[in-house]
Amino acid sequence: MSEADINMRCWSRVDDYIVETLVPADPTLQAVLEASAAAGLPAINVSPAQGQMLALFARMVNARRILEIGTLGGYSTIWLARALPAGGQVVTLEADSRYAEVARGNFERAGVSERIDLRVGRALDTLPEVAHDSVGPFDLIFVDADKPNNPEYLLWALHLSRPGTLIVWDNVIRDGEVADAGSGDPRVQGVRRLFDLLAEDPQLCSTAIQTVGSKGYDGFALTLVQEPA
Ligand code: SAH
Ligand code: DHB
Ligand code: MG
Repeated sequence: MSEADINMRCWSRVDDYIVETLVPADPTLQAVLEASAAAGLPAINVSPAQGQMLALFARMVNARRILEIGTLGGYSTIWLARALPAGGQVVTLEADSRYAEVARGNFERAGVSERIDLRVGRALDTLPEVAHDSVGPFDLIFVDADKPNNPEYLLWALHLSRPGTLIVWDNVIRDGEVADAGSGDPRVQGVRRLFDLLAEDPQLCSTAIQTVGSKGYDGFALTLVQEPA
């Protein structure tokens, strides 16, 4: 077995332990993942431990309005929707209409449809509509779509935020490749350009945390929008 396989086995075992211990068993979320797999969606949703983390973030910032870019089958969306107080809403953006249909079914299954505004289309096309409909500013923004567009998503996130908004960026470590300036992967270059933009804006306070677990070696970045100086 390769070193990578041994690491992955250990990380998955510990993730299973964490989830068994700290994340309450949830037949609905299990059914959501099964429906997504049956429909042929890729299993690239956040892990259960990460879903619980997103829900904790939403509660920590008292989020009433949440924006998500990248719905897939709606697994992370349901975690976020469940963290909302009554009257709260998640606006979630998905490019693939087939994935969006699966997500709709999952929102019904989870009983959260009325808290979710799912918009189908490429996010760079639907974000102007979200801005126009003035459903923001958002309290929490979760960016988990096509990574080469992360620099564009930062501009939109700032347009749709207020001081105090928390922005969470998924998949910013990529097996460590983020530290490779010469990477030929456009997703890695998208994250690196994002980091440069985050660093040069004095209104933003950011960090990135490496993670291991059932999804391998990756990580999240966090950005807090501060009061202007
Ligand atoms: N947040 C989900 C996983 C999202 S996977 C979860 O954790 O459960 C990334 C998603 O982004 C995919 O469904 C993909 O179709 C979508 N996506 C890719 N490019 C996009 C774009 N330009 N606009 C909107 N969605 C996009
Ligand atoms: C991929 C995308 C994701 O958002 C993720 O969390 C993991 C993997 C991917 O495109 O491979
Ligand atoms: Mg992701």
